[in-house]
Amino acid sequence: MKKERIDKLIAGSGKLSRKDAAGLISHGDVEVNGKTVKSGSEKVDAETDEIRVRGEIFTIKKHIYIMLNKPKGVVSASDGKGEKTVCDLVPEELMRRGLFPAGRLDKDTTGFVLITDDGEFAHRILSPKNHIDKTYVASLRDNIEDEAVSVLENGITLRDGTAFLPSKIKILSDKECEITICEGKYHQIKRMFCAVGNEVVDLRRIKMGGLFLDERLKDGECREITADELNLITEK
Ligand code: URA
Repeated sequence: MKKERIDKLIAGSGKLSRKDAAGLISHGDVEVNGKTVKSGSEKVDAETDEIRVRGEIFTIKKHIYIMLNKPKGVVSASDGKGEKTVCDLVPEELMRRGLFPAGRLDKDTTGFVLITDDGEFAHRILSPKNHIDKTYVASLRDNIEDEAVSVLENGITLRDGTAFLPSKIKILSDKECEITICEGKYHQIKRMFCAVGNEVVDLRRIKMGGLFLDERLKDGECREITADELNLITEK
């Protein structure tokens, strides 16, 4: 790893703000290889140097993975071109350069959005080859007919040639179901239900792979995903 300024490294870890990092350094609370850091401009190598903050080993994580409970009206992008984005909802302590949503929900869809700065991981979970399940709760305009369930569960090809792979459906009530798909095509669930003569009136993503959206997160809130939870997303 190349050497970086110690103040930038500590603040960029996502645990502390730039101001906090500068304060710790000026109070002599930061040590590198046993020596007190005198200036924020000192250069360190996070891989080989031992950094301690108030005596505690300070580990720098390479990437961050955030679970957001997306509210309606927010776009799944890092640049909303004037509109509020999911990245605008990330609090300062989790904010990093290069954050982006791994996969898109429509502006009016709510629920689980994963925000990260790890392009490789995002590619892995979004690649159609890897078939990572995404589960949604869909509220429909009309009752869900058995025939529609069997059509969508077997996979459906639209008149324009778009093919949707088989899905799994669990009926929750006459007009509400859980639907699991392993792709992420444009407006996929809305188009699937439209193809069987129904209409999605509300859509919420509740699960990615084996990881459920944390129900304690209120609309617009987010938290960091733990390493174990991250494995749940990709494990089959
Ligand atoms: N399918 C949709 O139609 N919209 C979403 O936001 C996600 C899946």
